[in-house]
Amino acid sequence: MPVSPETRPRTQNEPMLELTGLSVSYSGGAVRALQDVSLTVHRGQIVVLLGVNGAGKTTTLSTVCGLLPFTGGTVDAGTVLFDGEDLKGKNPSSRVHRGISMVMEGRRVFPDLTVEENLVAGGFTRTAAESREARDRVLTMFPILAGRRKQMAGLMSGGEQQMLAIGRALMQRPTLLMLDEPSLGLAPLIVQQIKQHIVDINAEGTSVLLIEQNAAMALSIADYAYVLDGKTVAHHGTGAELLADSSVQELYLGIAGEGRRSFRGAREERREGGPL
Ligand SMILES: Nc1ncnc2c1ncn2[C@@H]1O[C@H](COP(=O)(O)OP(=O)(O)OP(=O)(O)O)[C@@H](O)[C@H]1O
Ligand SMILES: [Mg+2]
Repeated sequence: MPVSPETRPRTQNEPMLELTGLSVSYSGGAVRALQDVSLTVHRGQIVVLLGVNGAGKTTTLSTVCGLLPFTGGTVDAGTVLFDGEDLKGKNPSSRVHRGISMVMEGRRVFPDLTVEENLVAGGFTRTAAESREARDRVLTMFPILAGRRKQMAGLMSGGEQQMLAIGRALMQRPTLLMLDEPSLGLAPLIVQQIKQHIVDINAEGTSVLLIEQNAAMALSIADYAYVLDGKTVAHHGTGAELLADSSVQELYLGIAGEGRRSFRGAREERREGGPL
């Protein structure tokens, strides 16, 4: 049975993912993407990462997944701990083995493979029996995929492809699922369905780190949230605290907005009695 986003239990157990003082650059140090970023996902939580374009959201997830060597990025400082273990030097597939899965930006399904083949591809580190069991779980969770098992993924709607991308990440039975802007470009009704799926996945015991530009959706289900601005964490608090914050309201919720000033700029103006 679906869990109501408003009534699901809020938990704060031990830290699962801990980023401390993380600084990342690209192109041999020419582009600084993250500066001294610290954030924590506690076991069982949904944690949201907000930020305008170029703030470093995707870079944060790529760092956790170990993808920086493939995108020309370098960790200049800081640590990434997962279940207390330093992930430095661990390759992406060993991070998947440890329980970290990611749904990348832009619903990258294999368009020429069927829904079922996409799912099987997602379970690449599992035995055939584990993969079958995971596939059945995913198809139960996403009835829309069950009805289209034999359909080519490239022929499905954007919303269906996003469900498939999430389902494929779940094939690894992750303990931490990271999603990079899953609602991007989707109709409001589909965004609501995705939100419910994220809540249900979390209710089954998977911790979630969610990147979103749809702040209203994300903060409504966030146990905790961080705002990246100027490549670092400018603000953090519970979902309810950030929803009530006037800077967040202006920059991310379109309330009393006056264009795209930085989060810091908005806060400083507010402190100085400016136009907020
Ligand atoms: N592979 C790369 N090579 C060089 N610079 C990069 C690379 N990837 C990202 N950057 C730069 O790093 C900074 C952070 O980018 P990132 O993609 O992490 O931001 P983002 O918050 O995910 O943005 P968006 O909302 O547009 O997805 C930006 O200045 C970007 O141009
Ligand atoms: Mg991004």
